[in-house]
Amino acid sequence: MRRSYQSGGLALVSLASVVLYLSLHRRQLVPGTPAVAKDSRTTTLTDGTSTFLLNHSLYEAHFPHLQRYQCQEVIARDALCQGPARAPLLLLAIKSHPASGSKRAALRRTWARPAEVGGFWLQPLFLLGAASSDKDAELVGLESHTFGDILMWDFAESHHNLSLKERCFLRWVHQHCQRAAYVFKGRRTRSCAAGARPCSLRQAK
Ligand SMILES: *[C@@H]1O[C@H](CO)[C@@H](O)[C@H](O)[C@H]1NC(C)=O
Ligand SMILES: *[C@@H]1O[C@H](CO)[C@@H](O)[C@H](O)[C@H]1NC(C)=O
Repeated sequence: MRRSYQSGGLALVSLASVVLYLSLHRRQLVPGTPAVAKDSRTTTLTDGTSTFLLNHSLYEAHFPHLQRYQCQEVIARDALCQGPARAPLLLLAIKSHPASGSKRAALRRTWARPAEVGGFWLQPLFLLGAASSDKDAELVGLESHTFGDILMWDFAESHHNLSLKERCFLRWVHQHCQRAAYVFKGRRTRSCAAGARPCSLRQAK
């Protein structure tokens, strides 16, 4: 318990630094538009320092279901996008596994809860793929009803489908949450990527 609160505190401190960084560098963080190369079968993606050439035919050959999948939310929460109008909305998106309810509970007890910090409204949300059992699905449903911080899609939850989570989440932000000024993405339920260093959160006993 204690450890969880300690690391939770650490996460909050790092989060506060991120918020501070964001407020200082608001202008520079505007995302660039990917450049589509002349050959339409490749796309050049750049973040300013490195460039990645995406070969569409190779990609489609290796991961056909990633191409075909149409995002379908089974739990959609448009209310996540509210919050006081005076504060810019910062979404804290945390990829999570449907069966990891106790880890989500531990995060909610520490930093993953809606709050105003440094002039930003922080709204945590957990990103989930489909539950593999009825029991997990039922528990996630109850959790979502209680906390309202879950977005869930109907693709199978698996490591290889994580990019679907990214894509569907960005689509959701675009379609339902244009109010969001910033998105801060955590990598897993147990850790949060704050600033340059990932920080681990231990599960409360
Ligand atoms: C993309 O990959 C395919 C299959 O390996 C290859 O034939 C094609 O030349 C590649 N395209 C480019 C633009 O590199
Ligand atoms: C990813 O999700 C799709 C759609 O649910 C599923 O068909 C596919 O098997 C999943 N991939 C993996 C590797 O689990």
